[in-house]
Amino acid sequence: MPQSLSRRSLLTALTGAAVLGPEAVRAANRDRHLSAADGFEVTHTSLAVPGLDPAHDGLVVAQLSDIHVGRNTPDGRVLGAVRAVNEAKPDLVVLTGDFVTTLRDPFEEVPRLLAGLVAPTFVVLGNHDHWTDPIRIRWDLEALGYTVLQNRHTVTRVRGAPLAVVGVDDSRSRHDDVARAFAGVPPGGSRLVLAHNPPTALQLPESAGLVCLSGHTHGGQVSVPGLTAGLFRRLGQPYVRGWYPVRGNHLYVNRGLGFGVGGPLMRVGSDPEVTFLTLKVA
Ligand SMILES: [Fe+2]
Repeated sequence: MPQSLSRRSLLTALTGAAVLGPEAVRAANRDRHLSAADGFEVTHTSLAVPGLDPAHDGLVVAQLSDIHVGRNTPDGRVLGAVRAVNEAKPDLVVLTGDFVTTLRDPFEEVPRLLAGLVAPTFVVLGNHDHWTDPIRIRWDLEALGYTVLQNRHTVTRVRGAPLAVVGVDDSRSRHDDVARAFAGVPPGGSRLVLAHNPPTALQLPESAGLVCLSGHTHGGQVSVPGLTAGLFRRLGQPYVRGWYPVRGNHLYVNRGLGFGVGGPLMRVGSDPEVTFLTLKVA
């Protein structure tokens, strides 16, 4: 891992400079020795959402994505991210796919590393999950008490008001069915959409006050200003990292925690990320 990347990530995880504050992050990393490779950046974004239930003004959603357990993602980074999420006490947690990469990966590590998320946790699968063993991944995450949404929605009560969470399955592996996922979704109020592949946001109902959370791109993984975004656009990925307005809705693309291919040296200018989104009434 390049020195500048590892040092910056580690400092962020250790000091919590981005969001959590030193107290919370110290607690998050208590009882373990952090190596440079275990670091991640904590990001914090506020979104003004039309139609958001007033009870959800200030609602905090934590997002982890693209865990890719196995040799290319340090276990300590995932454990540290789970602790950081719990210390922040978000209202809910979302996991947006790609828990593994290949059939050779240690599938048993997925529930072991992701266990213990305290807030209600909602999950969609990614392309690598579908290309390997989606049934096992779903089963293991449901056994933790997490809700896996494959082209369906659920309505949960948060802060005393209903919140619809819509899970659109992965479009990279052609498992997406937006119409089915939205069948029966309340036409207004607070609604989150989870979709591993960011371009799914282009299929969502227009200007509907939706907040879509995605991953998949690893923020470009090797991010070269002026080059990476153009390359991804040519590959059909116009949304690489962070926030985008898409057809009148919000899209947030998390950079992920792990590596699908290429190993630890293949993240440049694109640190692993733990996201906290705060929703505000527009
Ligand atoms: Fe993916």
